[in-house]
Amino acid sequence: VKVFIPRDTTSLALGAEQLAAEFTAAAEQRNDHVQIVRNGSRGLFWLEPMVEVETPAGRVGYGPVTCADIDSLLEQGMLKGEQAHPLSLGLAEEIPYLKKQQRLTFARAGITDPVSLDDYQQHDGFAGLRNALAMSAQDIVDAVKASGLRGRGGAAFPTGIKWQTVLDAVPTDLSGQKYIVCNADEGDSGTFADRMVMEADPYMLIEGMTIAGLAVGATQGYIYLRSEYPVAHQILNEAIAKAEAAGFLGHNICGSGHAFQLEVRLGAEAYICGEETSLLESLEGKRGLVRAKPPLPAIEGLFGQPTVVNNVLSLAAIPFIMDKGAQAYADFGMGRSLGTLPFQLAGNIKRGGLIELAFGLTLRELIEDFGEGTFSGRPARAVQVGGPLGAYMPESQWDTPLDYEAFSAIGAVLGHGGVVVFDDTVDMSEQARFSMEFCVAESCGKCTPCRIGSTRGVEVIDRIRNNENREANLELLGDLCDTMIDGSLCAMGGMTPFPVQSAVKYFPEDFEPKTADGG
Ligand code: NAI
Ligand code: SF4
Repeated sequence: VKVFIPRDTTSLALGAEQLAAEFTAAAEQRNDHVQIVRNGSRGLFWLEPMVEVETPAGRVGYGPVTCADIDSLLEQGMLKGEQAHPLSLGLAEEIPYLKKQQRLTFARAGITDPVSLDDYQQHDGFAGLRNALAMSAQDIVDAVKASGLRGRGGAAFPTGIKWQTVLDAVPTDLSGQKYIVCNADEGDSGTFADRMVMEADPYMLIEGMTIAGLAVGATQGYIYLRSEYPVAHQILNEAIAKAEAAGFLGHNICGSGHAFQLEVRLGAEAYICGEETSLLESLEGKRGLVRAKPPLPAIEGLFGQPTVVNNVLSLAAIPFIMDKGAQAYADFGMGRSLGTLPFQLAGNIKRGGLIELAFGLTLRELIEDFGEGTFSGRPARAVQVGGPLGAYMPESQWDTPLDYEAFSAIGAVLGHGGVVVFDDTVDMSEQARFSMEFCVAESCGKCTPCRIGSTRGVEVIDRIRNNENREANLELLGDLCDTMIDGSLCAMGGMTPFPVQSAVKYFPEDFEPKTADGG
């Protein structure tokens, strides 16, 4: 009997390693023949570690399973897929949270063994690469343009146009080298979709990067991975080595004569190294200081050469597009936001996890239908979408469709799809202060509005919170935010004011003097 016990960071943090060891020992003792497969997570985090058993009817899930549950599960017929045990979840695919999703990028997540090449290929793996190998570079770029895919790192720049720029760019050095760089420095609070891709389906990222290499004429790729993701690091390295040995990477991909090499490089825990130009500096071995743009990395990127810098999720969407066709991807979504976005539901939420859906649903559907409200059981009050630089949204905005343009029309950002929920105990002036404080800690220091503005921002908010010259300081905070937006070199200083301004605008009562009873 095949038994699936996940090996992603979340499950490991919840005891999956010991669970797998004790499960194996318990099954052996009972003379039950089990084959343990260490899969990735399906992204239903409140059920982790979720153990699944293969049955003729499909995979039956049990969760969250602890070591203390093993004996009773085995006694109650778990290995036959019996569902009497209180931890039984029924058929995994039928769990509503999963069933209601439209999983294109995460179709294999939690289903396959992340490092098994056979498993990957049996689930459509490398079909997109094989198609791409039969196409011209321009045709690949045209397909990506036609899919409508926009950068999933947060800025939503059309991926096909970025690739076209790199395809057309001429390397300045004699080597003629161009690069594909994957931004896996997933630093946004409440986000984990990149990690899930790397831990659950690393070959998809490898395939996406290889196709990108074919599309723009790059033979070298780097995955810039945050060092906080040691499990992803190990899985990626294992997958790269296996892909190389099987001829899916290297000097002669699938016997085509095309070359593509791939390496993982670790960051050093700096949020700003998720900004593409400081990421390139860091990859070159320098301090992660933001570069002025232009020149765009697409023209002069890594080591001064034309470089595609794409987020994990952008590159991970490519195999589907090249396998099923651009239209199959563009059939999802709304307006100019086509395809799906893997939303990451986190913070004070009952059912946190990954929800891949076409653009267009609302925040309320995400929080109420999927999240089932707050973890604390108290009313939700504010939601921060798009990471620490995203606006705080009050309930009046929760019916806005999750779409890049609809969000930008109300001064919010979708960013990388991170959704962090706060209940009614949140103090929004404290959150505003935290935004400025975060900028103080993470600023690269290159430009004044960000480096000094954020420090002054903390001080001004402290004065408002202490009711010192409140009106004048609120005005000063407004001016400071405008200066940071207009004068910062990159999104760090340029977007830090968004959460601050939204907190002041939509939660003004939290900036009022506190009453004696603390209210
Ligand atoms: P940007 O708008 O300057 O650039 C977007 C991308 O398009 C860049 O790769 C840029 O080089 C490229 N580009 C722009 N014009 C181009 C052209 N004509 N040809 C080819 N390429 C072109 O935005 P930026 O500063 O790169 O990113 C800001 C975003 O990052 C924010 O919206 C924020 O949501 C997001 N973000 C994401 C984080 C994460 O953890 N994923 C963390 C922090 C911010
Ligand atoms: Fe560096 Fe901040 Fe300026 Fe960005 S805005 S370049 S992080 S100092």
